[in-house]
Amino acid sequence: MKKDLIRRIADDGEASEIEIEELLRCGGDDLKALYAAADRVRHEQVGDEIYLRGIIEFSNYCRKSCDYCGIRGPNRAVTRYRMGIDEIVDIAGEAERLGNTTVVLQSGEDVWFTGDRICEVIRGIKRKTGVAITLSIGERPYDELVRFKAAGCDRYLLRFETSDRELFGRIHPDDDFDVRVQCLHDLKRAGIQVGSGFMIGLPGGTVGTIARDILFATALKLDMIGCGPYLSHPDTPLSQGPLLEDREMYFKTLSILRLLNPRAHIPATTAFDALFEGGRDLVLTRGANVFMPNVTPQKYRALYQLYPNKPCVDEDSGQCSVCVMGRVARLGRTIGTGPGHSGLQKDEK
Ligand code: 5AD
Ligand code: FES
Repeated sequence: MKKDLIRRIADDGEASEIEIEELLRCGGDDLKALYAAADRVRHEQVGDEIYLRGIIEFSNYCRKSCDYCGIRGPNRAVTRYRMGIDEIVDIAGEAERLGNTTVVLQSGEDVWFTGDRICEVIRGIKRKTGVAITLSIGERPYDELVRFKAAGCDRYLLRFETSDRELFGRIHPDDDFDVRVQCLHDLKRAGIQVGSGFMIGLPGGTVGTIARDILFATALKLDMIGCGPYLSHPDTPLSQGPLLEDREMYFKTLSILRLLNPRAHIPATTAFDALFEGGRDLVLTRGANVFMPNVTPQKYRALYQLYPNKPCVDEDSGQCSVCVMGRVARLGRTIGTGPGHSGLQKDEK
């Protein structure tokens, strides 16, 4: 029985790589104890509010060729689209009306959206709405990050994807692990709240890799930690990748992250719904406190499939909004009303 171990880790907020591996392999009553501990720490440290961050997938153009991603530049099967600046601003307004207190602007690494154009989008949204803005647009140089912050950018999501630099190099033909990590430090230096994370179950990784990914994410002292299952996309070089045999491991990963990062925002990422019926709801009872409803207009949704079986492709923003309200109510939780800024204190960063 690992109940004592789980209690100790929940109390201390610390665990060794070996202990994390032990938890990743646990089952039965231990599994229940782990999920219950993560839910309790979530309740005590970040409360029962679920923050809604509406995600706007504003362009699927991408200059990069990440081996796992459905919208990688070389994938000719994808019809490319790019929203206009005014269109993005209008959608952000709609997202706010639907109850989102943050909008997440996500795209491939699209060179049309220069630093100036991104700043124009940020300023446009800030003029018309009261939402917080998160960017998720890939790696950008430090001077651009500073300009984004000055324009009103609050947060930025940039996953490190895996902490195994050899694996990182193999699946990112255009990227360098050190540059990725430097960008995360640059974001902090620019005064932007940072979200990062990894894919769970990448082919080529082991349980040990997941344990080290958890420790790496924790060491970064992130404001937000976004992780989801790796799902193989047929039009990508990694398409043969296996699913984790122990499907609970996806959830265990999230729960352990909560124990080690009690005050971080942890979203129930969309990929959980692609793999499990009601997957996002389950994660919300196992440590997560953020939901990211898709607010991309319906006509674009099928064109932004990073992985197959993505949920909400046939729904529009209104339908997702109703769905999300129902999910939160059924969980006995409430919708976050404030901006939902970082839960970390200055000395924790
Ligand atoms: N399976 C799961 N997640 C993926 N992402 C990209 N492709 C896939 C995939 N095939 C994730 C990456 C990226 C985020 C926006 O989507 O982690 O950072
Ligand atoms: Fe989109 Fe449920 S969140 S349909």
